[in-house]
Amino acid sequence: MPAVIVLGAQWGDEGKGKATDQLGTRADYVVKYNGGNNAGHTVVVNGEKFALHLLPGGILSPTCTPVIGNGVVVDLGVLFEEIGDLDSRGIDTSRLKISANAHIITAYTRTMDALSEIALGDKKIGTTGRGIGPTYADKVSRSGIRVQDLFHEDELRAKVEAALAQKNILLKEYGAEQFETDAVVADLLSYADRVRPMVIDTTLELNNGLDDGKTIVFEGGQSTMLDIDHGTYPYVTSSNPTAGGACTGTGVGPTKIDRVIGVAKAYITRVGEGPFPTELLDESGDWLREQGHEYGVTTGRPRRCGWYDAPVVRYSSRVNGLTDIALTKLDVLGGLDQIPVCVAYEVNGERVDEVPAFAADFAAATPIYEYRPGWSEDISECRTFEDLPQAAQDYVLYLEEVSRCRISVIGVGAGREATIVRQDLLD
Ligand code: GDP
Ligand code: IMO
Ligand code: MG
Repeated sequence: MPAVIVLGAQWGDEGKGKATDQLGTRADYVVKYNGGNNAGHTVVVNGEKFALHLLPGGILSPTCTPVIGNGVVVDLGVLFEEIGDLDSRGIDTSRLKISANAHIITAYTRTMDALSEIALGDKKIGTTGRGIGPTYADKVSRSGIRVQDLFHEDELRAKVEAALAQKNILLKEYGAEQFETDAVVADLLSYADRVRPMVIDTTLELNNGLDDGKTIVFEGGQSTMLDIDHGTYPYVTSSNPTAGGACTGTGVGPTKIDRVIGVAKAYITRVGEGPFPTELLDESGDWLREQGHEYGVTTGRPRRCGWYDAPVVRYSSRVNGLTDIALTKLDVLGGLDQIPVCVAYEVNGERVDEVPAFAADFAAATPIYEYRPGWSEDISECRTFEDLPQAAQDYVLYLEEVSRCRISVIGVGAGREATIVRQDLLD
């Protein structure tokens, strides 16, 4: 099974990092295809914890080549900070490859992110403040800076100058400090020599790899419900975490993809603003947050917590063409008498079975719950489906039915080994 996409099926932080790390131990490449250091992917190997932001999951596996694809936005300072951190912990990062076409997050796009949030006031998105949105906006408006520009100083200067001619007008309006072309260019150029050996035509490398029978894992950042096209717009990120993004974000065609794996928590969380029908604002939400350690890896913000939302996962299954679900954090639900599962919504007095097409309806949706029996046993040592208590098995089978996608892998702990495999995802 050479090419599989791993992506988020809810609102992010589902445990994609653990999944890509695990598959990365057997893959030839793990490729990040969207987003940037807004992602926070936690991986626990032999009890040691790693928080990856910009670097792909495969970085921890010595036989895997980690790749930052053209769809990613790269903050060069963060890149070398993460590389330095892993190097100091004895992880070899020298295999990392970066697309020449990836766009660069600059000091001014970071500032624009912060200013835009302030200007939005109580309508703010709740971004991670990493400059993601403004960098993608520049990409789409054809004024972005790409990794390959680092190696052509005159062109880089001309591009920065042209971009700042517009940004500085806006910055002045905001009453913010102006950016000088020389300072921005000098900052970017300070990374050029260190980046140069990593930069290749990643599209050619990956397609050649597939022709040679190599295994590639495409690692999505963020999630389906945060997708710029398919998510809860405008409360979304500015890229395509959905399956199509893996193709545009790497230059590997859809006919080459064998499997699309949606990672979903056994409940659900969200960080930042925006609609969230099953959100728990009472002590159940606090209980989930504490049991599941639901605090952001990137910003440290407490995550909003709620019960499993089946229409959301069905929606993800549809827009991504999911072949499998990797269900995570089943262990967190232990100790509940019964577990609510949202199976439909009530919108303006009517039952609605699927995620509504209109944002206003989704914002008004209240969950309709079915209640499943809980279990009290600690399941963190279970390694086969049959090891799980009957109620936990039944919960998984129920989620499989209401999500309309098979659940192939079940997470019962943060460690690489704390996993039940029902179907091999690389088979
Ligand atoms: P990502 O952004 O999708 O990679 O997810 P995050 O790393 O932001 O958040 C997932 C959190 O859950 C991390 O702290 C993981 O170590 C942890 N985790 C992943 N899978 C499991 C699981 O099955 N059980 C438990 N208890 N924790 C898990
Ligand atoms: P991983 O990959 C959860 C959210 C932010 C905000 C919105 C836009 O760890 O699952 P941005 O900075 O991207 O412009 O913010 O998207 N967001 C995430 N939420 N997990 C993430 O990444 C996220 N990356 C961005 O909280 O609501
Ligand atoms: Mg995360």
